[in-house]
Amino acid sequence: MSEFTSNFNNFFRLDGKVALVTGGSRGLGLHTATAFLLAGAKLVIITARKAEGAQGINQAVERLNALPGITGRAVGIAANVAQLEDTQRLLGEIQKITSKLDILVANAGATWGGPFEPTPDWSSQKILDLNVRGVFNLARLFAPMLEAAGTSEDPSRIIVVSSIAGTHVPHTGDNGTIMYSVSKAAAHHLARNLAVELGPRNITVNTVAPGFFPSKLANGLIEILGGEEVLTKANPRQRLGIPDDIAAVMLFLAGPGGNYVNGVDIPLDGGNRLVQGSLAKL
Ligand SMILES: NC(=O)c1ccc[n+]([C@@H]2O[C@H](COP(=O)([O-])OP(=O)(O)OC[C@H]3O[C@@H](n4cnc5c(N)ncnc54)[C@H](OP(=O)(O)O)[C@@H]3O)[C@@H](O)[C@H]2O)c1
Repeated sequence: MSEFTSNFNNFFRLDGKVALVTGGSRGLGLHTATAFLLAGAKLVIITARKAEGAQGINQAVERLNALPGITGRAVGIAANVAQLEDTQRLLGEIQKITSKLDILVANAGATWGGPFEPTPDWSSQKILDLNVRGVFNLARLFAPMLEAAGTSEDPSRIIVVSSIAGTHVPHTGDNGTIMYSVSKAAAHHLARNLAVELGPRNITVNTVAPGFFPSKLANGLIEILGGEEVLTKANPRQRLGIPDDIAAVMLFLAGPGGNYVNGVDIPLDGGNRLVQGSLAKL
């Protein structure tokens, strides 16, 4: 019989853990924050720019704290993680409520789509500032807190939410997303570099690369490409991503069972990246 070092039943549990999820007010970030609390996390801090309103942090925190059976709690702190000063302020505010951080999910992201030549320069800047520079600064600023919480047996985790667009060329032409795709390729390689930089400091760094999950960010492009029905038929798994899919991969990377996984990209698209050619130029 094999003997496991850690408790088999806890491979995907997060009991006692403290996590920060950027872009946690909706979409994939909110699915992740939900999964972390249901898996036993002690404190899940979500951040996004807006605090108020139907898409803001406050409503998300309220819904998270009403999850049945949780023992931990969610806290929201508004911050723009594309701006260094705001990320520094976020760090200061987090240090006021917790002395340790075990998990950082760099999920907040921006996209822009449109024809190649008229691309406004502000759109490239916005994308690169959040999807690349912002992730680098988050990792840099939060590394000491993560290092303090990690051990060789149970390292702290950074999980970067990238995209299938970081390894493939999904959209050119009238609805091209070239700089988004470039930014996500950079995010993948940033995570690989960080895996080597931070591994010896007991912090693992991995990337999740989703395909289409209905969300505010994705819905416009989903409609332009023919809607959910068309994309569902094109996907080898015959569906788009659902909250369970991102939750399960996040728990694998964040939990004790994933502690030797470092510097990998996990495509989470039902295999769709392998059949994208027919939809590439719309
Ligand atoms: N959904 C998909 O199909 C899909 C596919 C591939 C990759 N992704 C990636 O998954 C991640 C999450 O996307 P999503 O689809 O869940 O998008 P979403 O539903 O639009 O959520 C984006 C989240 O990020 C926050 N945010 C945006 N800019 C921010 C900033 N500068 N600072 C802090 N927070 C910011 C938003 O809140 P505020 O607006 O209030 O700031 C919101 O909480 C992104 O990195 C995206 O590229 C998504």
